[in-house]
Amino acid sequence: MLNWDDEPTTPAPAAAKPATTGGYTPHPAVVMSAAPVAAPKQDGLFAEGGATGLEEIKMGAARIRVDEKKIINCRADLNQLVPFKYKWAWEKYLAACNNHWMPQEIQMTADIALWQDPHGLTEDERTIIKRSLGFFSTADSLVANNLVLAVYKHLTNPECRQYLLRQAFEEAIHTHAYQYCIESLGLDEAEVFNMYREIPSIHDKAAWSLPFTQSLADPEFHTGTPETDRRFLRDMIAFYVVFEGIFFYVGFVQLLSFGRRNKMIGVSEQIQYIMRDEAMHMNFGIDVINQIKLENPHLWSAEFQQEVLEMIREATELEIKYAHDTMPRGVLGLNASMFNDYMKFIANRRCAQIGLKALYPGAIENPFPWMSEVIDLKKEKNFFETRVTEYQTGGALSWD
Ligand SMILES: [Fe+2]
Ligand SMILES: [Fe+2]
Repeated sequence: MLNWDDEPTTPAPAAAKPATTGGYTPHPAVVMSAAPVAAPKQDGLFAEGGATGLEEIKMGAARIRVDEKKIINCRADLNQLVPFKYKWAWEKYLAACNNHWMPQEIQMTADIALWQDPHGLTEDERTIIKRSLGFFSTADSLVANNLVLAVYKHLTNPECRQYLLRQAFEEAIHTHAYQYCIESLGLDEAEVFNMYREIPSIHDKAAWSLPFTQSLADPEFHTGTPETDRRFLRDMIAFYVVFEGIFFYVGFVQLLSFGRRNKMIGVSEQIQYIMRDEAMHMNFGIDVINQIKLENPHLWSAEFQQEVLEMIREATELEIKYAHDTMPRGVLGLNASMFNDYMKFIANRRCAQIGLKALYPGAIENPFPWMSEVIDLKKEKNFFETRVTEYQTGGALSWD
């Protein structure tokens, strides 16, 4: 209940802890790039690298011109949204707002009845639900933390930052959705939220990504040199291409497969909304990555491309391992070897989207063509024959 009389409390500062990846060996490039970076030089207004938006306001300064805008290392004022240079970022912001939805608007009663029915689901099906919620429930916090604590400061463009702010809220909605599913089904919250510290195949995906964020969150870190600009680019690729573009996909297929069989239709519908948001997050990140490449072609060296391919290969292997771990036996018409083919197919797509050659040239068949229909062809209306078409708030599912 709202109470205006409570005294604000200031929590005691937590003791600083050394960064840890829980035993997982981070990508060598991240370890190498975690070396201290020189303190930024000041030229009166801007720190080395680019503006942050916190610079002193200079009365009578020249008005900004659109051609001064840059995705990284921009020195024009970041507090002025217009004139737009990157209209795709603004359009994605508008589209994301049009897709607004909230988890508690989705009916969970059929899911609750099925979950509570001792004969409603097999043990293997229950494992998939719990592991998926276990991965996703902390994954969206990792993504949000990366946005707020690592990416935002160094992405020096107001229209892109406008999208980042919207994305950050969507990540909060996603974490809310998982919490809502966990609470509705009466799952053991501690068990689910601790899976990234207790289930190796979930831990390994989270631990793979964290060093990329840590590398940028260093208060001494600034873009502005080829080495630090590549560190930024690595983090963008690790989160937008790998985390949101690869690590979510086994879980998406598994949970949507329940909905296609008219099981756990509330959870499945939550995932449909989340996947629509995630597809846009990934496409935004890919646009940013490709724009940085365009503006800074020297960063995209043959050596760096090879490094990125290795990142995607490592991530694909982790995701395939996760598929085997979550479904040791075939279930819902799925089996782990289908995910081997699917993740290689997806990895090839991600490579193509950032201008790299296919990592797995033989993987040209998508074993889940219905996923393409959802994601690629944007044919969504009533796809899963759930109550989606009855859901007519501002966020009703429409992929157009
Ligand atoms: Fe998310
Ligand atoms: Fe996301």
